[in-house]
Amino acid sequence: MNIILSTTLPDALPVVIGLFDGEKTPGHSLEKPFQDTIALHLKEKTFLAKSGEHLLTHVVMQEGHLVPTLLFGFGKKETLSENQSRVLGAQCLKSCRSFKKKELGVVLPKKIGKMLQNFVEGMVLANFDPATFKTGEEKKKKEQEEMTAIHLIGPSWTADFEEHLKKAMTVGAVVNEVRTLVNTPPDQLDIQGFVNEAKKIAHEQGLAFTDFDRKKLEKMGMGGILAVNRGSDQGAHMVVLEHLPNRNEAPIVLVGKGIIFDTGGISLKPSGSLHEMHIDMAGGAVVLGVMKLIKMLNIKKNIVAIVPITDNAIGSKSYRPSEIVKSYSGKTIEVLNTDAEGRMILCDALWYAAKKYKPKYLIDLATLTGSCIVALGYRTAGLFGNDAKLLATIKDSAKRTDEAVCELPITDADEKSMIGRVADLQNMATGHVYAGPSRGAAFLKNFVNGSKWAHIDIAGTSYSKDPKDYEINSATGFGVRLLVDFFEKLK
Ligand code: BES
Ligand code: ZN
Ligand code: ZN
Repeated sequence: MNIILSTTLPDALPVVIGLFDGEKTPGHSLEKPFQDTIALHLKEKTFLAKSGEHLLTHVVMQEGHLVPTLLFGFGKKETLSENQSRVLGAQCLKSCRSFKKKELGVVLPKKIGKMLQNFVEGMVLANFDPATFKTGEEKKKKEQEEMTAIHLIGPSWTADFEEHLKKAMTVGAVVNEVRTLVNTPPDQLDIQGFVNEAKKIAHEQGLAFTDFDRKKLEKMGMGGILAVNRGSDQGAHMVVLEHLPNRNEAPIVLVGKGIIFDTGGISLKPSGSLHEMHIDMAGGAVVLGVMKLIKMLNIKKNIVAIVPITDNAIGSKSYRPSEIVKSYSGKTIEVLNTDAEGRMILCDALWYAAKKYKPKYLIDLATLTGSCIVALGYRTAGLFGNDAKLLATIKDSAKRTDEAVCELPITDADEKSMIGRVADLQNMATGHVYAGPSRGAAFLKNFVNGSKWAHIDIAGTSYSKDPKDYEINSATGFGVRLLVDFFEKLK
């Protein structure tokens, strides 16, 4: 979707007019018929400009033709928050679908100021439809629903404003691309396909790119990734994207879980929601999305992304419970459950990150545990780590972006529960089944080698069954906006 800044209303397009509760005009000079219509509705109290209120009407122009017009309420100016602006953008875009037009003119209240950025972000995020595999009439209908251009009308636009809007559009578009990647099933996006996506992003953005294929992983002794990959008919990979503009500055390293499809392996998952397990590369897709944005948003920090990529397939070669795996760190792991594969691939990627880059911060994103959904639902990710400042900065970004996180503990008991009976570690705790997200995090902690580290469990938030206004029952791209804000705000 394109956003075009303009000073006049384009002809022959429906128009949205946004108003604050208690104000009589958006504050821009509008043609008289629009002003009269607004005044009449306010007088008759058929439109009160309450937050999210919308009224579809027609304005009779002087020449006699009708302009379909949506009056859209912003509520009280004093109470409009940045997060609410994003929600309003989404609600507004959805209301506009009834116009059945692909382009719109939008006049927003002048006093919306900086909130406009979040409003536009909400519009872009709401303009997303996951039904990409429809054909025929249904496909046409879907295409018709998608908005292609919004003409934002104002008396003048400062360069500052243009910059903010461009940012909202860029970030929104990349979040939508990440959502598409996550939504794509494993037959359409296999291991090699995902590696190719990473490579494409690196090349387009001029980032250094390294692809460790199965042979290289074998040479390096990445036993965790290789064990999970054994049942697969494609070799495992670990891709590394580097943005290192500053000499002698330790980078922030992002690690994302890249499981193309998680059957559970020999510890096979029940079939109920198995079809959703194509989302298990969401962590990887999110960190790739962040790398795509780094140069576009002119972020000057040293940042590296590492994504271990395989599927967790079931077959005669699959790794089995009871096997002993030697991880890249040298630590041995007893496999008690092949469905706890995320930690098996992350342990090697984290150790590589810690050893090779000695990062300022190490942050991993992973759809790690189903129990994180039990604990926090679909709107809040689990946050773990070992550095108070890092966690506080992530929490601040979470608030600003409305990508909520809740810090959960890693207790001594959690750490003890991951110590192996016959090996250094076991990949699943025994004894009781509770505190799953903390125990998963406790396992990972063994591989950060003292780095300042945060682990974000996005099992619930990456694929929503409780969508916000700007989401839909599908992949959310959770984490892209959070991490971009984190990099921008980090001192
Ligand atoms: N990919 C799953 C976690 C998951 C579940 C993500 C549902 C999104 C939605 C992960 O690999 C997994 O299966 N974890 C196990 C760990 C357990 C065996 C210790 C789980 O959560 O049951
Ligand atoms: Zn699993
Ligand atoms: Zn998994």
